[in-house]
Amino acid sequence: MTVRINPSILSADFVNLERDLGHISNADFVHIDVMDNNFVPNLTFGPQTVSRIKSVSTVPLDVHLMIVDNDKWAPGYAELGAESVTFHVEATVDPVAVAQRIKQIGARAGLALKPGTEFDTVRDIAGSFDQILVMTVEPGFGGQQFMADQMEKIRQVAQFRKDTGTSFWIGVDGGVDENTISLAAEAGADTFVAGSAVYGRDNPSLAVENLRKLAQEHRHHEENHVEA
Ligand code: DX5
Ligand code: ZN
Repeated sequence: MTVRINPSILSADFVNLERDLGHISNADFVHIDVMDNNFVPNLTFGPQTVSRIKSVSTVPLDVHLMIVDNDKWAPGYAELGAESVTFHVEATVDPVAVAQRIKQIGARAGLALKPGTEFDTVRDIAGSFDQILVMTVEPGFGGQQFMADQMEKIRQVAQFRKDTGTSFWIGVDGGVDENTISLAAEAGADTFVAGSAVYGRDNPSLAVENLRKLAQEHRHHEENHVEA
């Protein structure tokens, strides 16, 4: 199983984004947290900024939308060139239709679940996505504590993937660091977002490699998993 480490630029220096992107060129994707001060109580950036990031980034873009009205806004992030667009089920009227539009444009479509959203509520639509992103903090801010009680949800998603022979990626976002990444990996996550545990370290690139090594060492073993 391949593991992916996606640093979140929420913890980067917003006036030196190009420089800080250069510090994580060994990452798999750069995670971009789009917040609208409505779905979450924080405001970051929108399509114009993401488009500029796209034009300078050497790694693909993993956009995480924490906004309302994804039916209207989410496909636009695929259009501007993001390789992956993940939106919250809690803020979307027709998640499957949005996923189809994102995929038609040529990006991966991800579905994010807040800590209070059970996997059972999306079980019927999960197969339409390229990634299920399990939040291990309440979305809105970096630097929060990892919610270990979400590991059961990751195990359910991994079990579903195995039972159905699907191949979506299982992402985890929030409080992932050198101590908690093993828990998420053992539960079945393969795609790890880390903000403060990358940009809060003296050497972000080394932090990426350390996290990758830890995730690989603790990865969940699943004989029947079909590799994406
Ligand atoms: C939180 C964001 C996360 C955030 C993670 O709402 O979705 O991507 O950047 O930051 P850390 O890794 O510091 O918890
Ligand atoms: Zn995020």
